[in-house]
Amino acid sequence: MKKHYLILSIDTSCDDTAASVTDGDLVLSNIISSQVEFHKEYGGVVPNLAKRMHQQLINPVIARALATARVSLKEINAIAVTVGPGLAPALEVGVAKAKELAKKFNKPLISVNHMEGHLLSSFACNSQGQGAFSKTGPRFPILGLLVSGGHTQLVLMMDFGKYQLFGETLDDAAGEAFDKVAKMLGLGYPGGPIMSELAKTGISKYELPVPMIGSKDLNFSFSGLKTACLYKLQKLAKPWDKQFYCDFAASFEKVAIESLMIKLKKAIEIYHPKQIVLGGGVINNLKLRKEARRTAKQFGLRIFIPYSEKLFSDNAAMIGICAFHQAQRNDFVKKIDLLDRQPSLNFK
Ligand code: KG4
Ligand code: ZN
Repeated sequence: MKKHYLILSIDTSCDDTAASVTDGDLVLSNIISSQVEFHKEYGGVVPNLAKRMHQQLINPVIARALATARVSLKEINAIAVTVGPGLAPALEVGVAKAKELAKKFNKPLISVNHMEGHLLSSFACNSQGQGAFSKTGPRFPILGLLVSGGHTQLVLMMDFGKYQLFGETLDDAAGEAFDKVAKMLGLGYPGGPIMSELAKTGISKYELPVPMIGSKDLNFSFSGLKTACLYKLQKLAKPWDKQFYCDFAASFEKVAIESLMIKLKKAIEIYHPKQIVLGGGVINNLKLRKEARRTAKQFGLRIFIPYSEKLFSDNAAMIGICAFHQAQRNDFVKKIDLLDRQPSLNFK
């Protein structure tokens, strides 16, 4: 029988207070308390409000993660926490709580990169051992396309813990562009899910530039598209009807995804990965997943996505998966008191 290795993980990198218990790569609980309702009225995440909310929510969220997994803190083998990247005031809450628990219960502490969490989210399995990779297993190198609200990255994974970052956004992330264009349209926050819902019944009839279409490298840029949207909207006479919103959302979505696909294709041609994984909140977008599958198929490759939608957006179970692999490599925090948040942490 497989030896148990229970990890309590915490992620407070942005506006979700999240805690999870994992056993190896099995997710026993994955609790996410979203603060979106509180940030909505400001049209985006307010870092100090996020900090206060995390402080209020962290204990109950951890208690629920433990209760759902039917595990006590004493039984936990290690504690893991996201140290970055993310909002400094938000990260601080999770890091402080993890340090406090590690010291109080005398547990080893594991510090995790949030984006590595998104990258490894497809490796998570449910409590029955079923996950995206449970049939085939990983075959390296694996190419990761990470698309979230703060990051857009292309990462090559040679093995667990061995990564090469070769593409990232030069300005806005893809999710951020969805959110900002939604804001221009007065659609509310977060804009990604609203835009993608509207786009389903829209026709992409507005001409917008495909970001980085002529660029030779593997980086992304979405701020030009955002500005093009602003100019286009200024020219389009109001009032806008429902169909207009759907059509504009579809037009934006089409070029944003096209840009992601151009770089994904380029990365496949250069690095010849054996498999592809997707991660980050924007993979909630069905069109993105469909286009990514189509792009991969052209090269005879399969796309892997997490077994549950709860693993797409920010969550702590993905942090537990990373932490498990780090524990296997003996990668623990050496001096707990010295651990600090790292808001700009990136793949080495
Ligand atoms: O990974 P995530 O939960 O948080 C970060 O680490 O940033 O990603 C959140 C982002 C937001 O920008 C949100 O608008 C976007 O993911 N998002 C979507 C969709 N659902 C969430 N973007 C496009 N289409 C969606 N269906
Ligand atoms: Zn994230």
